[in-house]
Parts: sequence; structure tokens; C-alpha cells
Amino acid sequence: MARETWATRIGFILAAVGSAVGLGNIWRFPFQTGQEGGAAFLLVYLLFVVAIGFPAILVEFVIGRRTNLNAVGSLRELGGGAWRYVGWLFVVTGFVILSYYSVVAGWFARYLVVGVTDGFTVTTEAEAAELFGIVSTGLDSLVFHAIFMALVIGIVAMGVRRGIELAVKVMVPAIILFLIGLAAYGTTLDGAGAAYAYYLSPDFGVVVDNWTSLLPAAAGQAFFTLSLGMGVMITYASYLGEDRNLATDAGVIVFLDTAIAVLVGFVVFPFIFAAGTDPGQIAVGAIFFSLTQAFATLPFGTLLGIVFFGVVTIAALSSAISILEVLVSYLIDEHPIDRLPATLGAGGAIFLLGVPVTLDLVFLDLLDGLADGVLLVLGALILVVFVGWVIPDVGLSELGQGITSVDPWDDIWLWMVRLPIVIVLVVALALGALDY
Ligand code: PHE
Ligand code: NA
Repeated sequence: MARETWATRIGFILAAVGSAVGLGNIWRFPFQTGQEGGAAFLLVYLLFVVAIGFPAILVEFVIGRRTNLNAVGSLRELGGGAWRYVGWLFVVTGFVILSYYSVVAGWFARYLVVGVTDGFTVTTEAEAAELFGIVSTGLDSLVFHAIFMALVIGIVAMGVRRGIELAVKVMVPAIILFLIGLAAYGTTLDGAGAAYAYYLSPDFGVVVDNWTSLLPAAAGQAFFTLSLGMGVMITYASYLGEDRNLATDAGVIVFLDTAIAVLVGFVVFPFIFAAGTDPGQIAVGAIFFSLTQAFATLPFGTLLGIVFFGVVTIAALSSAISILEVLVSYLIDEHPIDRLPATLGAGGAIFLLGVPVTLDLVFLDLLDGLADGVLLVLGALILVVFVGWVIPDVGLSELGQGITSVDPWDDIWLWMVRLPIVIVLVVALALGALDY
């Protein structure tokens, strides 16, 4: 059977945006921003997205489109030798991330169901914490993890065109519209002014004092949110048939993902300040406390909450399918396995790996810290070195496709990829690994 391709160009862009936009923007970005000092973190993160994330997404695109192969096979084909084993890191990373990602997505889905069946009625911190306890650990968490993984498996099993492409065409525009509505609503809340000040005016002292934790956190968040460092963008670009300008597509994807994360800040921080919660305390669960309390007190709160949790669940779904697709495309390219059994096998194994997370949040910190602090940064570092030093000609020729004039940016890109980005990533990896 011929290898699949995207039906349309916009289908590719939407799928990549769908992968990028997810819990990284909505759940992870606000609590990282809260823990690392607000606007100071936002500033460093934005810098990394532009100076590292954008060049790094192009690194993955050139590999994928050149080879039309999965993340493991493409490195083997272009690099040969020991490079054939590097792709295994991506497989491991995919298993690690999706196992806990699905559990957290299940919480959002569970809150959606709470809103639909009971409405949001919890007004005190203690009650909110109790509700979060029920949702996040034990049977509820397990059941919703199972439901979420079943949805992911179902979509990926249907294949590139019918499953992924059609799903994201509906999801992505819906996400953007709903978030704009919620952010507009946030402007009317008490405490909105304090929230914007916290979010938007950086304290440079924080950057200087906390750089050893801020740097790896911002680098990790930049890769996590852009789905970089584990072969997602290699895999998605491998389904591209034609030669068009990759940089334009990368620009659209990076811009939309960043805009959505920034927009989420405009939703979450006003709600958190209105609920009187300390933003430094918004760890993995407190975002749920603040938001459910806010939804309980606001006019039309239950409706708003249902919309919010519904949007997040959909966004998480379009990211989760991209992670499973990395594993499935590897299995079907490199082994005599069909899509359905590959999807069921990999998806089932991921479900099992996620089970401990449904029992104790300790495992969430462990897996998330490993993925974000070590695996993604390491994966991105390897890819950047690979394209910059091993196959720079392939990189430049792929980047030049679809561009008629001679483009000085290509040289700047190669220079960035070869040295400055490598240095920053080595430092971030060392700090992140020490921290872990
Ligand atoms: N980018 C996704 C998000 O922000 C998460 C993700 C990470 C997806 C790595 C694929 C690979 O939620
Ligand atoms: Na993201």
C-alpha cells in the first residue's frame, strides 16, 4: 500500500497546529508561568520560541519532507550508522509523554462531565480541593484516562486523511474562537488589572536570580508546547508530497501556538486573581481549583465552564493523536504491521503506563519532569546537531524549495542551528538534568 499523504496543504498546517496547541498551552503554560515568576518567565519563553523553537521546527520539517519516512527511519536513511538508533529516543519520549498527558486530559474531560451533570457549585478552596482529589486520583481518573486513550486510538486507527486531518479542521478554529470569548469575559472580572500587571510587567531581578531554574523551564516549555524534540514534526512533514516553502508554514504554526498560550494567560490569570489564589501556588491541580471556584461564582459560570473544559479536551485530543502517530508511523514503516494492530498495541501499552499516574500524582511529576527537563531537550539537541553538522546541505536544499530568490535567512538559520542553539540547549539540558 502506498504511504499516505495529506489531502490538502491546509490540512498539514492544521494538523501541526492541532498537535502544538494542547495541554502545554492551557495546563502547563500557566502553572509554569506562575511558578517561575510571571512576566519574567513569559519574556524568556517568548525569546526561546522565536530564537530556538522556530529554527528547531524547521530542522524537523526538513528531515521529514526529505525522507518521507517516520522519525526513526528518517534518521537512519539520512545519517546511517549509529543514527539509526537515535530515533528510539523519540519512541521512548512518546510513550512517556502520552501516558501522563492522557491522564491529565482525562481530568479536563471529567470536569466537563461535572459541569454537564451537576453544574459548577463548589465555592470554597476546601471543597474545590476535595473535588479535584476525586477527579484526579483513583477510579474516576482511571476511567477517564481509558476513555481518552480509546478516543485517541480510534482517531489514529482511521489514518492520516480520514482521522487526523478531518478532526483538526473542526477543532482548531473552535479552540481559537472559544478562548477569545473567555479572554474577553476575563476583562470584566475583579482583579483583572492586577492579573495583567503580574502577567505583563517583567521583573528582571527574577530572571537574574532564578536563571538556573528559569532557563531549563523555559526551554522545556518551548519544546513541549511546539511538539518538538520527539519527532512529531518529522512525522507530520513526512506526509507532505509537494515542495512548498516550509518556513511560511513553520511561521504560521509557531505564531498560532504562541498566540494561544499567551491568550490562555489572559483567560487563566484574571480568573485566578478573581478567586484570590496565589499564582505562585498554581501547581498541577490548583488551576482546576481556581477555575471551578470562579465558574461557580460567575454569572453563566456553568455554561462558561462547560465550554472551557470542552475546548481543552478537544485541544488535548489533537495533540495526543500526534504523539501516538509518531509511534504508529514508526511501527508500520519499519515493521510488517498494519495500522490497526500498531495503533491498538502502542495505545494499549501507553494506557498501562499511565495507570500509576491515576493512582498517585507523584508519578505525574516524575514523568513530566523527565519529559520536559531531559527527554525533549535532549531530542531537540540531537536533531539540531544532526541537521547543522551532519546533513547541512540537505537542510539548506529543503529549506530553499519553493523559494525563488536567494534568501539570506537560510544562512542565518544554519548558523543559529550550528552554534548558538546548541550551546543554549547544552546548558539547559545540564541544568534540567541536575534539577531532575
Ligand atoms: N504540544 C503539545 C501541547 O502543547 C504537547 C506535545 C508535546 C505534543 C510533544 C506532541 C509532542 O500540549
Ligand atoms: Na502547545
